[in-house]
Amino acid sequence: MMNQRGFIRPAVDRIPAFGGVPTCDTAGMAGQAFLHLNECPYPPSPRVVEAITHGAAGVNRYGEPRPQLLAERLAQLAGVEADRIVIGNGSDEVLAMIASATLEAGDVAVAPTPSFPRYRISAAIQGAQTRLVKLLLDGRNDVAGLLGAIDGATRVVYCCTPNNPSGAPLEPEEIAHLCERVPADVLLVVDEAYAEFHRHEGGVDALPALARRNGPWASVRTFSKAYALAGLRLGYAIVSDGAIAAALTKVKLNFNLSRIAVQAGLAALDDKEYADGLIAAMVVERERLAGSLAAMGFAPLPSRANFVSFDLRRPAMPVMAAMARRGVLVREWRDPGYETYIRFSVGLPAENDRAVAALRLALGEA
Ligand SMILES: Cc1ncc(COP(=O)(O)O)c(C=O)c1O
Repeated sequence: MMNQRGFIRPAVDRIPAFGGVPTCDTAGMAGQAFLHLNECPYPPSPRVVEAITHGAAGVNRYGEPRPQLLAERLAQLAGVEADRIVIGNGSDEVLAMIASATLEAGDVAVAPTPSFPRYRISAAIQGAQTRLVKLLLDGRNDVAGLLGAIDGATRVVYCCTPNNPSGAPLEPEEIAHLCERVPADVLLVVDEAYAEFHRHEGGVDALPALARRNGPWASVRTFSKAYALAGLRLGYAIVSDGAIAAALTKVKLNFNLSRIAVQAGLAALDDKEYADGLIAAMVVERERLAGSLAAMGFAPLPSRANFVSFDLRRPAMPVMAAMARRGVLVREWRDPGYETYIRFSVGLPAENDRAVAALRLALGEA
């Protein structure tokens, strides 16, 4: 469609309109199983709830533009200085800050596909191009492909481990290879939104490999998944040096975080045992769900996150719609070439059973 309003930047005008997504607050959604957003199906720690309740009476005051205590706690856990932590309104905002600080028209970002859409959308907002590199067959990011797509116009390379929507993590050697080969004047962004699940199962932290990199990097993380705080919006990046953190801080909104989110984040970190329990429960359920799907003849991709994807071997969209009519929301991959793939987030045990039953019926219908 033509730009109806001359004042909208052409780069923004070219981005497809936001389609919306049903959430638990959307009208008519009571009693549905929300297995389409990779949320944690369990409530947050009681200590988080207490911090939120306690903080409510203080919201007449702004929070800190750069929350010091939370930055210090995250820095201590990561073994870095606090000036290398950037905190955002969800890791989504951190990814937007990264694009805003690094990309402009004529620049190129390199990113895996299918993967988290924010990489290409935030680049498009900047008027930059994204060179998309297809996943390997097992769902891993294609490291050789990502490296091969870099040229002189490339400013940022994204990777996602474990990757959403496939679930596959990168091997430690692959992360090391990226750290070594992404040029020293290109920002390497490692999206680790689901890393807590991977580490729970013995996966290695990307930080030691990143620390050895001779070039800039950012490890992007979130409280939305393993800490069950999706609705509060809290994410962060650990970056290679204070200058990058300072640049990201320049482009962020001033009071981007609510005081309550910061207080809740601190409480969540204080109750690691609770988060560990949630992660363990979700991993057990993920394997049970994957087992049920395998028993139906599907081959779930190996996942180290709180979701499972698989090839339905028929168009996913009608199956997804038929499941939604039965009150089970799952997500098709959407990306060109992957129209038969579908992703189930791990829900409560009864929700996962309901999803499998709904899939069986939907297959008979769709
Ligand atoms: C890979 C990945 N990165 C980042 C995000 C953004 O999460 P949030 O903004 O809730 O921190 C998501 C959300 O689903 C994701 O899957």
